[in-house]
Amino acid sequence: IHNVIFDDSKEPSILVAREIADLIKEKNAKNKPCVLGLATGSSPIKVYEELVRMHKEEGLSFANVTTFNLDEYYPMDKSNIQSYFYFMHEHLFNHVDILPENINIPDGKVSADDLYQYCIDYEKKIKSIGGLDFQLLGIGRTGHIGFNEPGSHFNSGTRSITLDHITRVDAAPSFLGIDNVPRKAITMGIGTVMSAKRIVLLAWGGNKAEIIQKTIEGHITSEVPATYLQNHKNTTFILDEGAATELT
Ligand code: F6R
Repeated sequence: IHNVIFDDSKEPSILVAREIADLIKEKNAKNKPCVLGLATGSSPIKVYEELVRMHKEEGLSFANVTTFNLDEYYPMDKSNIQSYFYFMHEHLFNHVDILPENINIPDGKVSADDLYQYCIDYEKKIKSIGGLDFQLLGIGRTGHIGFNEPGSHFNSGTRSITLDHITRVDAAPSFLGIDNVPRKAITMGIGTVMSAKRIVLLAWGGNKAEIIQKTIEGHITSEVPATYLQNHKNTTFILDEGAATELT
Protein backbone atom coordinates (compact mmCIF):
# COMPACT_ATOMS: atom_id res chain seq x y z
CA ILE A 1 0.00 0.00 0.00
CA HIS A 2 1.10 3.48 -0.81
CA ASN A 3 -0.41 6.17 1.45
CA VAL A 4 -0.70 9.90 1.00
CA ILE A 5 -1.77 12.36 3.71
CA PHE A 6 -3.52 15.69 3.09
CA ASP A 7 -4.69 18.50 5.40
CA ASP A 8 -8.36 17.84 4.64
CA SER A 9 -10.57 15.94 2.18
CA LYS A 10 -11.12 18.67 -0.38
CA GLU A 11 -7.91 18.75 -2.41
CA PRO A 12 -7.39 14.96 -2.48
CA SER A 13 -11.02 14.41 -3.57
CA ILE A 14 -10.38 16.66 -6.56
CA LEU A 15 -7.20 14.75 -7.38
CA VAL A 16 -9.04 11.41 -7.26
CA ALA A 17 -11.81 12.78 -9.48
CA ARG A 18 -9.14 13.92 -11.90
CA GLU A 19 -7.57 10.46 -12.00
CA ILE A 20 -10.98 8.95 -12.76
CA ALA A 21 -11.67 11.57 -15.45
CA ASP A 22 -8.29 10.91 -17.10
CA LEU A 23 -9.03 7.18 -17.15
CA ILE A 24 -12.47 7.76 -18.70
CA LYS A 25 -10.90 9.94 -21.43
CA GLU A 26 -8.01 7.52 -22.06
CA LYS A 27 -10.46 4.61 -22.52
CA ASN A 28 -12.73 6.74 -24.67
CA ALA A 29 -9.82 7.62 -26.98
CA LYS A 30 -9.34 3.86 -27.51
CA ASN A 31 -13.07 3.32 -28.01
CA LYS A 32 -13.18 1.16 -24.90
CA PRO A 33 -15.55 1.07 -21.96
CA CYS A 34 -14.27 2.44 -18.66
CA VAL A 35 -15.38 0.14 -15.84
CA LEU A 36 -15.62 1.81 -12.44
CA GLY A 37 -16.29 0.16 -9.07
CA LEU A 38 -18.03 2.73 -6.87
CA ALA A 39 -18.67 3.24 -3.17
CA THR A 40 -21.34 5.12 -1.25
CA GLY A 41 -21.18 6.74 2.20
CA SER A 42 -19.70 10.06 3.26
CA SER A 43 -16.11 9.41 2.08
CA PRO A 44 -16.56 9.69 -1.74
CA ILE A 45 -19.11 12.54 -1.80
CA LYS A 46 -16.62 15.26 -2.78
CA VAL A 47 -15.19 13.03 -5.52
CA TYR A 48 -18.65 12.70 -7.07
CA GLU A 49 -19.22 16.45 -6.67
CA GLU A 50 -16.09 17.16 -8.66
CA LEU A 51 -16.96 14.59 -11.37
CA VAL A 52 -20.37 16.29 -11.76
CA ARG A 53 -18.66 19.67 -11.99
CA MET A 54 -16.29 18.36 -14.68
CA HIS A 55 -19.25 17.00 -16.63
CA LYS A 56 -21.16 20.31 -16.42
CA GLU A 57 -18.29 22.75 -16.88
CA GLU A 58 -15.67 20.83 -18.85
CA GLY A 59 -17.77 18.46 -20.94
CA LEU A 60 -16.48 15.26 -19.33
CA SER A 61 -18.69 12.53 -20.81
CA PHE A 62 -19.71 9.31 -19.07
CA ALA A 63 -21.09 7.78 -22.27
CA ASN A 64 -18.42 5.05 -22.27
CA VAL A 65 -18.60 4.42 -18.51
CA THR A 66 -20.01 1.29 -16.90
CA THR A 67 -20.30 1.25 -13.12
CA PHE A 68 -20.62 -1.48 -10.52
CA ASN A 69 -21.50 -0.40 -7.01
CA LEU A 70 -19.93 -2.28 -4.14
CA ASP A 71 -23.02 -2.94 -2.10
CA GLU A 72 -26.64 -2.40 -1.11
CA TYR A 73 -28.60 -3.09 2.04
CA TYR A 74 -30.85 -6.16 1.99
CA PRO A 75 -33.75 -6.00 1.89
CA MET A 76 -33.96 -2.47 0.52
CA ASP A 77 -36.25 -0.73 -1.92
CA LYS A 78 -34.69 1.46 -4.64
CA SER A 79 -37.08 4.30 -3.84
CA ASN A 80 -36.05 4.38 -0.18
CA ILE A 81 -33.89 7.44 0.55
CA GLN A 82 -31.58 5.22 2.62
CA SER A 83 -30.86 2.97 -0.36
CA TYR A 84 -27.49 3.10 -2.06
CA PHE A 85 -29.44 3.21 -5.33
CA TYR A 86 -30.94 6.53 -4.21
CA PHE A 87 -27.57 7.81 -2.94
CA MET A 88 -25.78 7.16 -6.23
CA HIS A 89 -28.46 8.82 -8.32
CA GLU A 90 -28.61 11.81 -6.00
CA HIS A 91 -24.83 12.35 -5.87
CA LEU A 92 -23.74 11.28 -9.37
CA PHE A 93 -25.92 9.46 -11.89
CA ASN A 94 -28.75 12.03 -12.14
CA HIS A 95 -26.24 14.75 -13.01
CA VAL A 96 -24.09 13.10 -15.70
CA ASP A 97 -24.67 11.44 -19.10
CA ILE A 98 -24.11 7.83 -18.02
CA LEU A 99 -26.42 5.39 -19.83
CA PRO A 100 -28.92 3.88 -17.37
CA GLU A 101 -28.21 0.40 -18.76
CA ASN A 102 -24.54 0.83 -17.79
CA ILE A 103 -25.34 1.37 -14.10
CA ASN A 104 -25.08 -1.71 -11.89
CA ILE A 105 -26.05 -1.59 -8.22
CA PRO A 106 -26.89 -4.75 -6.27
CA ASP A 107 -30.69 -5.09 -6.16
CA GLY A 108 -31.89 -4.94 -2.58
CA LYS A 109 -35.28 -6.32 -3.61
CA VAL A 110 -34.21 -9.58 -5.28
CA SER A 111 -36.18 -12.47 -3.78
CA ALA A 112 -34.54 -14.73 -1.22
CA ASP A 113 -34.86 -17.64 -3.67
CA ASP A 114 -33.04 -15.78 -6.44
CA LEU A 115 -30.39 -14.12 -4.26
CA TYR A 116 -27.64 -16.72 -4.63
CA GLN A 117 -27.86 -16.81 -8.44
CA TYR A 118 -28.22 -13.01 -8.58
CA CYS A 119 -24.85 -12.60 -6.81
CA ILE A 120 -23.13 -15.12 -9.12
CA ASP A 121 -24.51 -13.20 -12.12
CA TYR A 122 -23.32 -9.81 -10.74
CA GLU A 123 -19.83 -11.26 -10.47
CA LYS A 124 -20.02 -12.74 -13.99
CA LYS A 125 -21.14 -9.42 -15.43
CA ILE A 126 -18.05 -7.69 -14.01
CA LYS A 127 -15.77 -10.35 -15.52
CA SER A 128 -17.52 -10.39 -18.90
CA ILE A 129 -16.98 -6.67 -19.47
CA GLY A 130 -13.27 -7.10 -18.75
CA GLY A 131 -13.08 -6.48 -15.00
CA LEU A 132 -12.88 -3.32 -12.92
CA ASP A 133 -10.46 -0.70 -14.23
CA PHE A 134 -10.72 1.39 -11.08
CA GLN A 135 -12.25 0.69 -7.66
CA LEU A 136 -13.08 3.50 -5.24
CA LEU A 137 -13.33 2.45 -1.57
CA GLY A 138 -14.18 3.80 1.84
CA ILE A 139 -13.46 1.86 5.02
CA GLY A 140 -15.74 1.03 7.93
CA ARG A 141 -14.66 1.05 11.57
CA THR A 142 -14.81 -2.77 11.50
CA GLY A 143 -12.21 -2.80 8.71
CA HIS A 144 -14.84 -3.60 6.11
CA ILE A 145 -14.40 -2.64 2.47
CA GLY A 146 -17.68 -2.86 0.63
CA PHE A 147 -19.65 -4.70 3.30
CA ASN A 148 -17.00 -7.39 3.71
CA GLU A 149 -17.16 -7.60 7.48
CA PRO A 150 -14.59 -9.33 9.73
CA GLY A 151 -14.39 -13.01 8.82
CA SER A 152 -14.63 -12.39 5.08
CA HIS A 153 -12.48 -14.71 2.98
CA PHE A 154 -9.76 -13.20 0.75
CA ASN A 155 -11.21 -15.05 -2.21
CA SER A 156 -14.88 -14.14 -1.59
CA GLY A 157 -17.13 -13.02 -4.43
CA THR A 158 -20.38 -11.08 -4.53
CA ARG A 159 -22.71 -12.52 -1.89
CA SER A 160 -25.15 -11.69 0.86
CA ILE A 161 -23.64 -10.99 4.26
CA THR A 162 -24.74 -10.16 7.80
CA LEU A 163 -23.76 -6.67 8.89
CA ASP A 164 -21.50 -6.27 11.90
CA HIS A 165 -23.04 -4.63 14.98
CA ILE A 166 -20.59 -1.68 14.79
CA THR A 167 -21.57 -1.08 11.16
CA ARG A 168 -25.24 -0.98 12.15
CA VAL A 169 -24.46 1.43 15.03
CA ASP A 170 -22.65 3.73 12.59
CA ALA A 171 -25.60 3.61 10.17
CA ALA A 172 -28.23 4.15 12.90
CA PRO A 173 -28.43 7.98 12.71
CA SER A 174 -29.34 7.97 9.01
CA PHE A 175 -31.99 5.30 9.68
CA LEU A 176 -33.34 7.18 12.73
CA GLY A 177 -32.43 4.34 15.07
CA ILE A 178 -30.57 1.03 14.99
CA ASP A 179 -33.79 -1.00 14.87
CA ASN A 180 -34.43 0.37 11.38
CA VAL A 181 -31.00 -0.57 10.01
CA PRO A 182 -31.19 -3.70 7.84
CA ARG A 183 -29.35 -6.72 9.23
CA LYS A 184 -28.08 -7.88 5.89
CA ALA A 185 -26.56 -6.57 2.69
CA ILE A 186 -25.36 -7.69 -0.72
CA THR A 187 -21.68 -6.91 -1.28
CA MET A 188 -18.97 -7.50 -3.84
CA GLY A 189 -16.39 -9.82 -2.30
CA ILE A 190 -12.78 -9.26 -1.31
CA GLY A 191 -11.79 -11.26 -4.41
CA THR A 192 -13.95 -8.98 -6.58
CA VAL A 193 -12.33 -5.83 -5.16
CA MET A 194 -8.81 -7.29 -5.36
CA SER A 195 -9.29 -8.08 -9.06
CA ALA A 196 -9.53 -4.33 -9.84
CA LYS A 197 -6.54 -3.00 -11.79
CA ARG A 198 -6.36 0.09 -9.60
CA ILE A 199 -7.77 0.74 -6.09
CA VAL A 200 -8.08 4.03 -4.22
CA LEU A 201 -9.30 4.00 -0.61
CA LEU A 202 -10.46 7.22 1.05
CA ALA A 203 -10.53 7.77 4.82
CA TRP A 204 -11.32 11.06 6.53
CA GLY A 205 -11.42 12.01 10.20
CA GLY A 206 -10.22 10.80 13.56
CA ASN A 207 -12.84 8.08 13.95
CA LYS A 208 -11.07 6.17 11.16
CA ALA A 209 -7.59 6.57 12.71
CA GLU A 210 -7.54 3.30 14.65
CA ILE A 211 -8.76 1.10 11.79
CA ILE A 212 -6.42 2.85 9.33
CA GLN A 213 -3.47 2.07 11.62
CA LYS A 214 -4.47 -1.62 11.82
CA THR A 215 -5.10 -1.80 8.08
CA ILE A 216 -1.79 -0.29 7.01
CA GLU A 217 0.54 -1.40 9.80
CA GLY A 218 -1.11 -4.57 11.13
CA HIS A 219 -0.67 -8.12 9.85
CA ILE A 220 -2.99 -9.41 7.16
CA THR A 221 -6.03 -11.02 8.76
CA SER A 222 -9.66 -11.75 7.97
CA GLU A 223 -10.42 -9.98 11.27
CA VAL A 224 -9.57 -6.72 9.46
CA PRO A 225 -10.63 -7.41 5.87
CA ALA A 226 -9.08 -4.19 4.54
CA THR A 227 -5.62 -5.61 5.43
CA TYR A 228 -5.97 -7.83 2.34
CA LEU A 229 -5.28 -4.67 0.34
CA GLN A 230 -1.65 -4.94 1.49
CA ASN A 231 -1.36 -7.67 -1.16
CA HIS A 232 -2.70 -5.50 -3.99
CA LYS A 233 -0.08 -4.09 -6.35
CA ASN A 234 -1.76 -0.82 -7.28
CA THR A 235 -3.57 0.52 -4.20
CA THR A 236 -3.34 4.03 -2.75
CA PHE A 237 -4.77 5.08 0.61
CA ILE A 238 -5.72 8.73 0.65
CA LEU A 239 -6.01 10.10 4.17
CA ASP A 240 -6.53 13.39 5.90
CA GLU A 241 -4.62 14.39 9.03
CA GLY A 242 -7.32 12.98 11.30
CA ALA A 243 -7.35 9.50 9.75
CA ALA A 244 -3.55 9.38 9.80
CA THR A 245 -3.04 10.28 13.49
CA GLU A 246 -2.35 6.70 14.68
CA LEU A 247 0.20 5.83 12.01
CA THR A 248 3.72 5.39 13.37
C1 F6R B 1 -20.27 1.86 0.99
C2 F6R B 1 -19.25 0.92 1.48
C3 F6R B 1 -18.70 1.03 2.87
C4 F6R B 1 -18.28 2.45 3.24
C5 F6R B 1 -17.75 2.48 4.66
C6 F6R B 1 -17.36 3.90 5.09
O1 F6R B 1 -20.61 1.56 -0.34
O2 F6R B 1 -18.89 0.04 0.75
O3 F6R B 1 -17.59 0.17 2.97
O4 F6R B 1 -17.31 2.88 2.34
O5 F6R B 1 -18.70 1.99 5.54
O6 F6R B 1 -18.49 4.71 5.10
P1 F6R B 1 -18.36 6.31 5.26
O7 F6R B 1 -17.67 6.78 4.00
O8 F6R B 1 -19.75 6.81 5.35
O9 F6R B 1 -17.52 6.54 6.46
